[in-house]
Amino acid sequence: MKHLIDILDLSTGEIDKLIEKANDIIEHPEAYAEKCARKKLATLFFEPSTRTRLSFESAMIELGGSVIGFSEANSSSASKGESVSDTVRTVGCYADIIAMRHPKEGAPMIASMHSPVPIINAGDGGHNHPTQTLTDLLTIKREKGRFDNLVVGMCGDLKFGRTVHSLIHALSRYEKVKFVMISPDELCLPEYIKTELESANIEYSETKDLESVMSTLDILYMTRVQRERFFNEADYIRLKDSYVLTPEKLETAKKDLAIMHPLPRVNEISCGVDDDDRACYFKQVLNGKFIRMALILKLLEVD
Ligand code: NCD
Repeated sequence: MKHLIDILDLSTGEIDKLIEKANDIIEHPEAYAEKCARKKLATLFFEPSTRTRLSFESAMIELGGSVIGFSEANSSSASKGESVSDTVRTVGCYADIIAMRHPKEGAPMIASMHSPVPIINAGDGGHNHPTQTLTDLLTIKREKGRFDNLVVGMCGDLKFGRTVHSLIHALSRYEKVKFVMISPDELCLPEYIKTELESANIEYSETKDLESVMSTLDILYMTRVQRERFFNEADYIRLKDSYVLTPEKLETAKKDLAIMHPLPRVNEISCGVDDDDRACYFKQVLNGKFIRMALILKLLEVD
């Protein structure tokens, strides 16, 4: 049985096929409207979510299936002390596939070892978020037409930002991708990911100054400072507005820059940027539904 716990569970060939399928769904949605008839998706969200949960649910509904689940740990038996493995053994009796978000790193992986049905990691703590990465990859493919030869700026909370970690892993597999890590010292990329990049000879640089690198970027991936992962509020308050992207700061940027953000945004991108043709973050939201439709079809082995 196939699960999706880490983006590297998928080969680049499998990612290409998912993207192809998502593009076909975008063009011919009616052809997919009954593909998952009588199938059920369970969304088990032990942490807040808007896009990820609702896009999974919309994806299954648009495939003709139905959805069960919970959107907060308090409304599940986790609040009584039930283990993740018992929860998925139980939900696996009702649903054909499970999307799980959990504040503890590794929880979806543990779940996959005990689940009778495929598990999709919908975000585990400050670790990984593979389906946001599929969303980002579909967006990059549609906007830039390629995954190689790109200068990718990652800006904001690179320490706790799970979408950043998964996207770096995914893009590291393509030729001539160069990363520019833009963050305050306290929120820089975890050491284990830097070591991985170094041992794979992947070029990256680190800076605190977004404007000094703006003109070099093909993609600018902005992120929110992850308040819920801080030990103390004072540090969060000090760091939360480290970067605020405004139209003025984009003056030196390339004409075909793709400005991305997994959302939710707090203050990192001013609303003045939303009308810029280079802003892709709401396109990412829509792409997220289509790529999750493709992923559900793949994991349920529906053609
Ligand atoms: C992200 C997440 O949950 O990690 N959101 C999302 O799924 N689109 C990013 C974030 O919360 O900052």
